[in-house]
Amino acid sequence: MITLPVPPSLIAPSTAVKTSYLVGEQADMLYRESDTAWLAEASIDFDAYVAERVGIRERWGVPSELFWFTSGEYYIGSLVIRHRLTDDEGGGHIGYHVVYPWQRQGHATQMLRLGLAKCAALGIETALLTVEPENVASVAVVRNNGGIDDGINHEGERRFLLETSGNR
Ligand SMILES: CC(C)(COP(=O)(O)OP(=O)(O)OC[C@H]1O[C@@H](n2cnc3c(N)ncnc32)[C@H](O)[C@@H]1OP(=O)(O)O)[C@@H](O)C(=O)NCCC(=O)NCCS
Repeated sequence: MITLPVPPSLIAPSTAVKTSYLVGEQADMLYRESDTAWLAEASIDFDAYVAERVGIRERWGVPSELFWFTSGEYYIGSLVIRHRLTDDEGGGHIGYHVVYPWQRQGHATQMLRLGLAKCAALGIETALLTVEPENVASVAVVRNNGGIDDGINHEGERRFLLETSGNR
């Protein structure tokens, strides 16, 4: 396994990890047999791609902020925080993914821990996360961070509540 230069942290999207981001996301898309077309555009003008993703932006009808989980030159994954829940609470406060080459190394567990600390700083005391029932890896990530079952939502996803204060 690759030895990371420093413990990974959540940063604003950055051109500093261009190659690692593009290669990592491409590997992930290919593994998941997903559409890779968006990578062509991103790789042609990465500065613009990043600029469009930095800061608090209105997405899903609520203020949202995207972070990249990185260590030095390495991009590992992404995490988004919705500052407010949407009307139907779909998607919860936090969404995330770790790209395939970095999976199963504890990164999502650590990334969510840091995301909860950011929620605490925003004044979100209890974060809602929603996970598809068959996503055993994500359920484990949520449970590793103290997630408590809160039923099933209208889309059939499992709801979990996580206290953020221990992560401040
Ligand atoms: C879910 C996801 C973020 C997990 O990332 P990760 O960095 O591999 O997670 P971790 O290494 O922190 O692993 C957490 C736990 O899940 C388990 N796990 C990870 N991948 C797994 C898999 N494919 N199958 C079964 N268990 C898995 C790990 O063994 C670990 O278990 P443990 O805590 O009991 O030891 C990653 O698989 C992913 O990005 N998937 C696609 C997007 C997604 O599902 N996002 C979440 C939407 S709610």
